[in-house]
Amino acid sequence: MRAGIIVVFFLFRVSVSLVWAEPDEIDKKGCRDCHRFSSEGKQTKEGPDLFYAGDKFLKSWLKEFLQSPVVIRKVVYVSDSDYPTGQLEANQPHLALTKEESERISDFLMTLHLPSLEINKMDEEPLSKGEREQAKILFERKFGCISCHKALNLVGKVRGGVSGPSLVNAGLRLKSDWIFHWLKTPKKFLSKGRMPVFDLDEETVAPLTKYILSIRTKP
Ligand code: HEC
Ligand code: HEC
Repeated sequence: MRAGIIVVFFLFRVSVSLVWAEPDEIDKKGCRDCHRFSSEGKQTKEGPDLFYAGDKFLKSWLKEFLQSPVVIRKVVYVSDSDYPTGQLEANQPHLALTKEESERISDFLMTLHLPSLEINKMDEEPLSKGEREQAKILFERKFGCISCHKALNLVGKVRGGVSGPSLVNAGLRLKSDWIFHWLKTPKKFLSKGRMPVFDLDEETVAPLTKYILSIRTKP
């Protein structure tokens, strides 16, 4: 009986420390100077929020990004509803971590979730050719998403605005459920964002999400 309690206690301790241990690098590298790791505190202007990273990112992308960062937002990041400052390529290159650091931090980031975000909102079925054409019309003409986000034209060339994050290869970076919730209820993530709130219904959000997942230059 006592041995049982000790084993249970031990397992509990181990799992708790695996889930909650925050890697030292978060403090040492000053990640908090530019990112929020909890929804408390003021939204920072320096970098995007990470307190729902586990809902948002694919772990494979995170691990790669933290070792060899790429530019996703070409204009200075402003989380306010201010207009972007318009200086292109103004972001400093993001700090890069070693493979081990990146793995530790990615494991940790993947444990950060919003308390009650529904999962399995999106099925895996890609859009048919006709559905994709309809979704492209929504993305480009009806809502003008292309004016702020980079996507691909018919011959696969990158085009689109720069005031929002690039959506090229977003399917290798973002979880489909997260895109769904972001488009449906952005306020769950950001009290004050620069993207217009479109008030979309699920019938519009689902094809837009699948369309975003299809904007790819890589397999
Ligand atoms: C000097 C400010 C600064 C520091 C320090 C910093 N970041 Fe960033 N981070 C940024 C900015 C700005 C972006 C947006 C880059 C882009 O979109 O091109 C970013 C992007 C990210 C992203 C992708 C987020 C998204 O939504 O696209 C992750 C993940 C990330 N940082 C993690 C970290 C971690 C972990 C650390 C500490 C090891 C760290 N950052 C330190 C400024 C910073
Ligand atoms: C006026 C510019 C603008 C328009 C139009 C716009 N967006 Fe955005 N979008 C943004 C900005 C800016 C962000 C980053 C969030 C922020 O800073 O508030 C964003 C974020 C996103 C993200 C999350 C990307 C990430 O990596 O964090 C997705 C997905 C997205 N938008 C899709 C769309 C779709 C689909 C439409 C059309 C229905 C659209 N956007 C229309 C400016 C825009």
